[in-house]
Amino acid sequence: MEGSMVIIMEITGSINEVRKQVKEWRRQGFTVGLVPTMGYLHEGHKSLIDRAVAENDRVVVSDFVNPIQFGVNEDLATYPRDIEKDKRLCEQAGAALVFHPEAEEMYAPDFSTYVEMKKVSEGLCGRTRPGHFRGVCTVVCKLFHIVMPDRAYFGQKDAQQLAVIRRMVRDLNLDIQIVGCPIIREEDGLAKSSRNTYLNEEERKAARVLSRAVYHGESMIKEGERDADTILSQMRRIIEAEPLARIDYVEMVDADSIEPLTKAEGRVLTAMAVYIGSTRLIDNFIVEV
Ligand code: PAJ
Repeated sequence: MEGSMVIIMEITGSINEVRKQVKEWRRQGFTVGLVPTMGYLHEGHKSLIDRAVAENDRVVVSDFVNPIQFGVNEDLATYPRDIEKDKRLCEQAGAALVFHPEAEEMYAPDFSTYVEMKKVSEGLCGRTRPGHFRGVCTVVCKLFHIVMPDRAYFGQKDAQQLAVIRRMVRDLNLDIQIVGCPIIREEDGLAKSSRNTYLNEEERKAARVLSRAVYHGESMIKEGERDADTILSQMRRIIEAEPLARIDYVEMVDADSIEPLTKAEGRVLTAMAVYIGSTRLIDNFIVEV
């Protein structure tokens, strides 16, 4: 079995190098998996890499803080970075190549082509972060064309992003299988996120309200409640009881179309974005009803 061989991991910032490497793997008949990330890798990212390593002969991890998906007042400049630690994590997980380009390698000074999506990218985070999913779709489309993987791995932590990517792949006929992976959490329930490092001790404790609201909403549906308002208002109440928390949104939508639901029916995504102090965190759960 190819997977049992020790793979020497390489790191490159060059698109041409990635292409050369992947071409060579293709020549050898290997399948290729891609895990797109913005780095500062944690157990959540690692779960995606592990899955990719299990399902593909070679795995590429992209590690790139994509400037065009950040709004003007967002945290592009302060977004945490630690490429050395990322490299070690990728190597230990069995990735074969880390693609870590400079922004200049990805975006020519006169870059002018974007992937723009209606509907699926307009609700939830799309409302608070205009242009965000345009940036995500554009960079992911570029990464897909650079690596041309058989499969690409995304976390349900960013449930809307996963729906957006699936829609893009369908709409643009990209021949790539999108694999969604479950949310990895801290022991107290907080979804792992690179942005959790922004939280001070007090905020870190306060951040537990997100997962508490998630668990509560999930158990309400499991116990038979179907009315969106009833579920959402109880979830909101849990969050509002925390003085450091400020709700951006708590909503129930169809997990594929991101259209609002008044009743929990079908594949239901209940998603939230909440500011803890000045840090914006997201969490969600999906249930099939
Ligand atoms: P980033 O936030 O680094 O996340 C990279 C991938 O890891 C995403 O698919 C995300 O859903 C997944 N992920 C993050 N935290 C997770 C957790 N706790 N459990 C499971 N999966 C988790 O998402 C992005 O980067 C960017 O938008 C990107 C797709 C790379 C485009 O720039």
